[in-house]
Amino acid sequence: MQLKTNEIYKDHFKGKTYNITTFGCQMNEHDSERISYLLEDIGYKKTENRDEADLILFNTCLVRENAELKLYGQVGSLKKLKEENPEKIIVVSGCMMQTSVAREVIEKKHKEVDIIFGTKNINSLPDLLFRYLESGERVIDISEDNVKDDYVNYNSKNNFQAYVNIMRGCDNFCSYCIVPQSRGREESRRPSHIIEEIENLVREGYKEVTLLGQNVNSYGNKSDFNVTFPELLEKCAQIDGLKRLRFTTSHPKDLSDDLIKVIKKYDNICNYFHLPMQSGSNKVLKDMNRKYTKEKYLERALKLKEEIPGISISTDIIVGYPTEDEEDFIETLDVCKKVGFDSAFTFKYSPRPNTKASKLTPINDMIVQDRFDRLLDTLYPIFNEKNKEYLGKTVEVLLESESKNNREVLTGRTDTFKLVHVKADNSLIGKFVKVKITDHTSFTISGDLIS
Ligand code: 5AD
Ligand code: SF4
Repeated sequence: MQLKTNEIYKDHFKGKTYNITTFGCQMNEHDSERISYLLEDIGYKKTENRDEADLILFNTCLVRENAELKLYGQVGSLKKLKEENPEKIIVVSGCMMQTSVAREVIEKKHKEVDIIFGTKNINSLPDLLFRYLESGERVIDISEDNVKDDYVNYNSKNNFQAYVNIMRGCDNFCSYCIVPQSRGREESRRPSHIIEEIENLVREGYKEVTLLGQNVNSYGNKSDFNVTFPELLEKCAQIDGLKRLRFTTSHPKDLSDDLIKVIKKYDNICNYFHLPMQSGSNKVLKDMNRKYTKEKYLERALKLKEEIPGISISTDIIVGYPTEDEEDFIETLDVCKKVGFDSAFTFKYSPRPNTKASKLTPINDMIVQDRFDRLLDTLYPIFNEKNKEYLGKTVEVLLESESKNNREVLTGRTDTFKLVHVKADNSLIGKFVKVKITDHTSFTISGDLIS
């Protein structure tokens, strides 16, 4: 039956266009690459113009409420377009579709949506399209995994940087976080599959690989293979020809000395560490179920700095967690100053359905906004000081793209993940160059091309 359907629609998608909007984290971005790969495989071509596209897809995020509200707004705005062009196909996928609350909103209030699928059903997309065309009725697939560990090289960001999933899901249940609900329990991919994928990428000319997982440090914990994250990282670093190796995200409670040793040992493992702190107050950390203290966090961050001089450290911070008081917040500011972060993702606490924290009374919005502003006022001068240290230095940069505001300027990243602006010809995109740093802001460093 399925084969027959596939046969009928074999040429149906040739020359048709799709537009994809991605909300959320790198994991979602990578899922979108897989979605794009599957659509292009059946004949679709990508377009940046949403209104013109034959298929419009939203890959959703649930981590904070604003991404959820934005999605409803953007999908709702297509109602008229769909009424006037019923042949257009509207698809909503990803984390939001994994929870019944958000899915029901789309199912009940957004009749314009034709296909719905979850984070574990990406590979079903071609089939869902065939089923939709056959029946003309809305198709939903949020079933548990159909195909396991079937990754191929789905990367479409560019031809020199790739994301590689090493695990999915999370078992940590931080009290504010919806990820264990939306992405399910932790599951690690087999090391041999990961290595093979990276070897193929390197053979194709990829220079930089980022290993992805919600908590890469617990890689292998529940598996039948005996490989820890530091061991996996070492195997990856040994792949011939791999120039840069990154990974994200690390939970501070599991950051081992072995991991620090491996980063130190291999030149191609980047000297950059994303270490989400969330809060600098022991009371709030306990309430958040983070399973480390501020002392332990500081000790780990300072150990990284001591063992790997020049390493840059970024973090995630949530302000306004329901039990956070002024004193707790001051402690967060204090730890920020003590660590000296290079950059940070800062969030206002957002209650998420069916999380432990959602049962607590939220703090007044104005207090949260005031703390948020004070956090940025504390962080920006720290970032500025960190970037100032680069003045006069020559750094190696992998050039990634033209700058949005000035096409003569290219942007790239150092090994330490500093965003660099440099005047250079766009034929150098995808290449390593040397840049002498002459200027900086809190968020970028810039300078002159010297080779
Ligand atoms: N509210 C605000 N920020 C959140 N994050 C996760 N859940 C929430 C929430 N409910 C932040 C955390 C996490 C990052 C990916 O998103 O800081 O590390
Ligand atoms: Fe969410 Fe905590 Fe898991 Fe990170 S470690 S994904 S914050 S539950």
